[in-house]
Amino acid sequence: MTDLKICIPYYSGFGHTKRIAQSIARGAGPTATLLDVENMTGADWEALDAADAIIFGAPTYMGSAAARFSLFLEQVDTRWENGEWVDKIGAGFTTGIHPSGDKLATLQRFSLFAAQMGMIWVGQAEIGAPVKPDRPGANRDGSWLGLMVTEQLGQDDDLLAEDLETACRFGQRVAAVTHQWVRGSP
Ligand SMILES: Cc1cc2nc3c(=O)[nH]c(=O)nc-3n(C[C@H](O)[C@H](O)[C@H](O)COP(=O)(O)O)c2cc1C
Repeated sequence: MTDLKICIPYYSGFGHTKRIAQSIARGAGPTATLLDVENMTGADWEALDAADAIIFGAPTYMGSAAARFSLFLEQVDTRWENGEWVDKIGAGFTTGIHPSGDKLATLQRFSLFAAQMGMIWVGQAEIGAPVKPDRPGANRDGSWLGLMVTEQLGQDDDLLAEDLETACRFGQRVAAVTHQWVRGSP
């Protein structure tokens, strides 16, 4: 799966989304590319247009994707008209300080966007505790539309190692599905 083209465009106001994006990239493989939507170059847009899969990432601010990331999504509309991203794999992730925090609205925003672009949406497949007590740290927020992480406000490291591991596994899943979609075999 080393030749897959996977891009991870993200916005991060305070660094949390960026760290999660880095963990997803670790799982997705050596060719996964992080793109900071605040500093997009022409080459970054070319990478997106050539990508097999795009994993969208933004923090949840005021019950939706951070405005700066929404701006990026709106900048893509020229690609919509010509179906340029049709049949690319899409996936998404978000973070917030509350276990709910209305983070679902952010993932819904991303999946609707992907549907508009004709992309193939890949959700989360991890099942952890309490259904599987032997997997206490997996998918702690119980989110399946995409990856959610809840920031641990006030702790030394406000992103838990188990959440970053879940992020890594999410990257692995998206890469595996992309491989099946692009190469036609598991
Ligand atoms: C303006 C603003 C609005 C926020 N709104 C929410 C929210 O609706 N739900 C939530 O769970 N967290 C909310 N948060 C907390 C952030 O989502 C959280 O701190 C996140 O980890 C920040 O990610 P970042 O460091 O990548 O910017 C908000 C933070 C800010 C600054």
